[in-house]
Amino acid sequence: MKLNPRRKIAGTITLPGDKSISHRAALMGLLVDGPLTITNYSDGADCRATLEAVKSLGATVQGDSDNLTITPADKIVAADSVIDCGNSGTTARLLAGLLSGCGVAVELTGDESLRSRPMDRIINPLSEFGAKFDNPSGTLPLKLLGGPVGAIGATGATGSINYTMPVPSAQVKSALLLAACAGGGTAIVTEPIATRDHTERMLAHLKANIQVSAPRVEIQDDPHDPRKKTRTVLDNWQSRVTVHGNGKLSAAAIDIPGDISTAAFFFAAAAIGKGEVTITNVGLNQTRTAFLEYLKSIGCAVAIDQRREISAEPRGRVTVTGAPLKGRKISGEFSARLIDEIPIIATVACFAEGPTVIRDVAELRVKESNRLESIASNLRLMGAGVGMIDDDGLVIEAKGEMQPADFKSYGDHRIAMSVAIASLFLSGDSTLDDAECVSVSCPTFFELLDKIAHG
Ligand code: S3P
Repeated sequence: MKLNPRRKIAGTITLPGDKSISHRAALMGLLVDGPLTITNYSDGADCRATLEAVKSLGATVQGDSDNLTITPADKIVAADSVIDCGNSGTTARLLAGLLSGCGVAVELTGDESLRSRPMDRIINPLSEFGAKFDNPSGTLPLKLLGGPVGAIGATGATGSINYTMPVPSAQVKSALLLAACAGGGTAIVTEPIATRDHTERMLAHLKANIQVSAPRVEIQDDPHDPRKKTRTVLDNWQSRVTVHGNGKLSAAAIDIPGDISTAAFFFAAAAIGKGEVTITNVGLNQTRTAFLEYLKSIGCAVAIDQRREISAEPRGRVTVTGAPLKGRKISGEFSARLIDEIPIIATVACFAEGPTVIRDVAELRVKESNRLESIASNLRLMGAGVGMIDDDGLVIEAKGEMQPADFKSYGDHRIAMSVAIASLFLSGDSTLDDAECVSVSCPTFFELLDKIAHG
């Protein structure tokens, strides 16, 4: 695809439904006690893979992404011996949890990228919970043995787990929570670093028996200043979730807000191009809004109105106005909250004053591509200075004006979108080898881009 520079960034758009929330809605459609209606379901290939999986597990799916109805079968049975999760890690990991819970025997697989991604992070805790797998290798294909032996609720003493997450991962947390819900077991999941909480919110919306605790806090008088108080956090974790499952959820309508991780690309265009982009009905769950904090911290204006909460997910209208941008440091918990946005942050960094240093992002090596490598090689093609730090970080600095280039997507939707945004601000035409892969999360990405990026 030819990517040409644009002069003006301005416009208002609305985005398809959030990918993370859509996956969860479709999967919970297998566990509800009646028809579940979902509006604004993601139209991306990942969420289509989840919907196909749900169908192959006996549910009836009617309508289209604007308005879907999922009616579960009385009992979840796998129609085929293999479920293909395509490119979608969320489908594979959450489904492995849910199906381990209800004891369905089936093999999960995916495309070449997904078959190279780590699955031991769910195999280990699900096994501890009582699930049985056939000789797991740590990657897909993964064969769930099912039956009463494989079913978490049916294994008696092992039908409970108290798990502290070794790496921050909403997918692992969700696999355990869905296993408990589906199987009638109890899962207590402690997160040293909190991750996106869409599963918890949706389970509460569908009347699951779920409690979410925050760490204990002690407020005391400040010994140095009687007018002040000191605040001490007493626990070394940020969130603890407990689910007591009973195999069923209560159906209730789910409306999905626009995808804030897709919005990040259009907001980045406003930031770099000193333009203004407004996105209506975009998800504002605070476990997902770190990119807006980042934009403010580097010089942009971010305005939010029309705030409301529908089906337990906050959303609103967000306007980002660009300005001269500064580099900054990103690390620790902030990196974890920005994990899907690092490719576009690295792109923004090439148009900012001063270096951007990104640390604690080893997870990027096991995403849809090895994102540390795919980001670095594309940015270097434009002439940016990019260095690796300790195998789990990047330092990026613009060295003069960025140049047009023949970019590669590495089959990764977020890499393709990042270079598409960069190319708007280069001095001539660039190319992208596989623009098609944007359809994993947003098939209409280039049409939406044309609405905000003008000649
Ligand atoms: C997701 C969680 C994140 C994220 C992915 C979607 C989810 O992955 O990178 O795009 O929907 O739960 P991890 O849980 O592996 O960090």
